[in-house]
Amino acid sequence: MHDLSETPTTGAPRTDTLGDEEALRLRGDFPALHQSVNGHPLVYLDSGATSQKPFVVLDAERRYLETTNAAVHRGAHALAAAATELFEEARARVAAFVGVREDEIVWTSNATEGINLVAYAFSNASAGRGGSAAERFRLGEGDEIVVTEAEHHSNLVPWQELAFRTGATLRFVPVDDEGVITAEAASEVIGERTRVLAFTHVSNVTGAVSPVDEIVRMAHAVGALVVLDACQSAPHLPLDLAALDVDFAVFSGHKMLAPTGIGVLYGRSGLLNAMPPFLTGGSMITTVTMERSEYLPAPQRFEAGTQRVSQAIALADAVRYLQAVGMDRIAAHERALGERLLAGLADIPGVRVLGPLDAARRTGLAAIDVDGVHAHDVGQYLDDRGVAARVGHHCAQPLHRRLGVTASTRASTYLYNTTADVDAFLEGVAGVRSFFGEA
Ligand SMILES: Cc1ncc(COP(=O)(O)O)c(C=O)c1O
Repeated sequence: MHDLSETPTTGAPRTDTLGDEEALRLRGDFPALHQSVNGHPLVYLDSGATSQKPFVVLDAERRYLETTNAAVHRGAHALAAAATELFEEARARVAAFVGVREDEIVWTSNATEGINLVAYAFSNASAGRGGSAAERFRLGEGDEIVVTEAEHHSNLVPWQELAFRTGATLRFVPVDDEGVITAEAASEVIGERTRVLAFTHVSNVTGAVSPVDEIVRMAHAVGALVVLDACQSAPHLPLDLAALDVDFAVFSGHKMLAPTGIGVLYGRSGLLNAMPPFLTGGSMITTVTMERSEYLPAPQRFEAGTQRVSQAIALADAVRYLQAVGMDRIAAHERALGERLLAGLADIPGVRVLGPLDAARRTGLAAIDVDGVHAHDVGQYLDDRGVAARVGHHCAQPLHRRLGVTASTRASTYLYNTTADVDAFLEGVAGVRSFFGEA
């Protein structure tokens, strides 16, 4: 098992990337990666959808449930106190991981819930909740919510619904011919009426990294609030949300070695404390009468009901694991795998890579269209050879439509993947057209 106590601190020479040898050593920590699928050793290239989990994370959740399990922020007994301490320590670790304060981190069940939380809080403000403090979240006719054409449905549909509920107009920043969000295109859409701008840091289809700094500056110049979808960046790149200067950000634990059921919403402290809640009920109030209720400050005001404690604690251990390996080294490793992926795909006739062809502009994933073969058939062919890739529209129908395809096949890498995994994918893709009589 990867020794967490040693990795970051011993001063042992560390390369600035992982390389195959270390990636293979890390793979030893991930039990799910050691199995055969359809008679072949599993090649897992679907971490963009969800990652596998290391023993330290599985153990953390189990240990907590076996020894400490209790409802947090409530009971006076020893287990409740210990559970609360672990829960809040987890929050602090995750906050530090993305460069923000712990009271700026709200636990959600996933990124989708985080975006919905913000959108519903805005519509509650628009309906008059939250008093004068919530003024800046109030939307109505004439106001504009801006998204981009590259968004995952999770960062599009909640804004469509918010527009319907408030009468605000939803506008979008078109992507360029490579499917990329550019500052130029954003500048054409962001204007005096823009009140909210929601966009992705890294596309889950092209892996392209958005020009966050420039876009955030433009949005703030017109007084708009910025919501960043960090689902595909938090697991793969060093991330400093305070430095990026966004107002809100979301990501999901399950994509970064943690269990499902835990997600993170970051919000600037002043904003969170001014925003009316989304879900209401127990654990988020100070005083309740039969007529009305007063709410706790953030983050508790957004954490109604019994919380996902074991998952939050396991997420903190996932973060600890990622920090021990080094986010910069993970990013460099995936960049190298991405380069190999792009170079290999360029040599296969009848295969089109979605997104920019320059590996330096993207993370270690690639979605492809195979001429004459539907993505589901490509995925099936790969699966028959033990290669797990994602097929379909990856919850990004508008982007696929813009790129002229209805579906694609995506390989996405992580810290436990090697060049051999990429080569297995390339070998499968190279054979697929002749198998289906297209070459
Ligand atoms: C860019 C992006 N945004 C949002 C999501 C939604 O994440 P979740 O389903 O964990 O809420 C995903 C998941 O695939 C994603 O890749």
